[in-house]
Amino acid sequence: MADAGDKMKQMINIVVKTFYGLEEALQEELAELGYKETQKLNRAVGLKGTWKDVYFLNLHARCALSVLVELHTFQLKTEDDLYKEASKVNWPELFDVNKTFAIKGAVNSSLFKHSQFPFLLVKDAIADSFRKETGKRPDVSVKTPQLVVDLYVREKEGVLSINTSGLPLFHRGYRQSTGEAPLNEVVAAGLLRLSGWDRKSPFVDPFCGSGTLLIEAALLATGIPSNIERTHYAFKNLKNFDAAVWDELYNSVQRVVKELPCTITGSDIDPDMVMKARRNLRGFSFGRFIEVNVESFEKARVPEGPGVLICNPPYGERLEVNASELYSAIGDFFKQTMKGYDCWVISSSEAGFKSLGLRPDRKIKLYNGDLECSFRKFSVYDGTKKLHKLEG
Ligand SMILES: C[S@@+](CC[C@H](N)C(=O)[O-])C[C@H]1O[C@@H](n2cnc3c(N)ncnc32)[C@H](O)[C@@H]1O
Repeated sequence: MADAGDKMKQMINIVVKTFYGLEEALQEELAELGYKETQKLNRAVGLKGTWKDVYFLNLHARCALSVLVELHTFQLKTEDDLYKEASKVNWPELFDVNKTFAIKGAVNSSLFKHSQFPFLLVKDAIADSFRKETGKRPDVSVKTPQLVVDLYVREKEGVLSINTSGLPLFHRGYRQSTGEAPLNEVVAAGLLRLSGWDRKSPFVDPFCGSGTLLIEAALLATGIPSNIERTHYAFKNLKNFDAAVWDELYNSVQRVVKELPCTITGSDIDPDMVMKARRNLRGFSFGRFIEVNVESFEKARVPEGPGVLICNPPYGERLEVNASELYSAIGDFFKQTMKGYDCWVISSSEAGFKSLGLRPDRKIKLYNGDLECSFRKFSVYDGTKKLHKLEG
């Protein structure tokens, strides 16, 4: 029988999930982390690795939503085959009977008439294999499972995986306070990467809210893992969890810095939001190097360019001024104040984008949670150089 050390070295199929539109950003990030051979999938990137890589990716991959390990891939002829296939996994070897579990995932197959039925079949297969082996069965917990089994079926092809992250990885553990419309942390990390920010030139967010982009920018620039404050990972609930390997990985990372390698500044018109951003930043050693001011974006104090600005201005009903006035003023602000900067805006407001009055150099379709958004780049050349102004 293989000992724990051998099991850590065994090659396994890993699928790192992300949001729609961030697949390439994640692939680029994984390459930077040393994973050069990866496969771009739908809302995910696949690679081969070891369980140590699984721990590493959970801690380090900022653009990842969860890290799955494939347990079994199979073909189905009838819906009953799913029970047989799910029974082929040695579940009692994977986790202890006193752990709670849930089955989640996506089934897109004409073999199944009721959407919940495939999940019930897998649940029964897991419960029965425990009963056979131990005489007991583990409890299901829909809301707070200790382990999540991922079922993916597309027509007749299926995969069963174990979700090694548990709660999605945007639960970073660093954000104490948020506003009404915070940017998802994984999206923020993805935007920073998509922007091509070099992590040395100034970074500015004049609509910083609770500071998500400022924090993710500082984490990226300092090399501190975005999940440094997170303690919960589902892999710790697996029987093969190797605490020594995890501790060594976790204790070897950078967590405290004496300086920031770049200037990061933020501002927001709402004093409550600025207080929240400052509170969130205070949890980090770099917090004291990041200036966050209460001011409207037009008055934002901006370091000299070149630099990168990323913001998600408000949109929709909650807005006190109308979208076209606000976005038109943002367009003017870019032209007048942000010379030499790459200015990126994420928004779901097409009318807002039109009102900016600038032609985008790039448009990327993305989701912030469930909300479809566009992330657009506006390069503002300084003085003598050409400005991308919309004509007509
Ligand atoms: C969608 S939220 C940004 C959320 C932020 N990215 C986060 O993760 O918390 C938009 C923010 O713009 C701010 N805001 C609205 N009008 C503003 C203005 N004229 N100048 C600066 N900030 C403004 C709001 O107070 C709000 O915090």
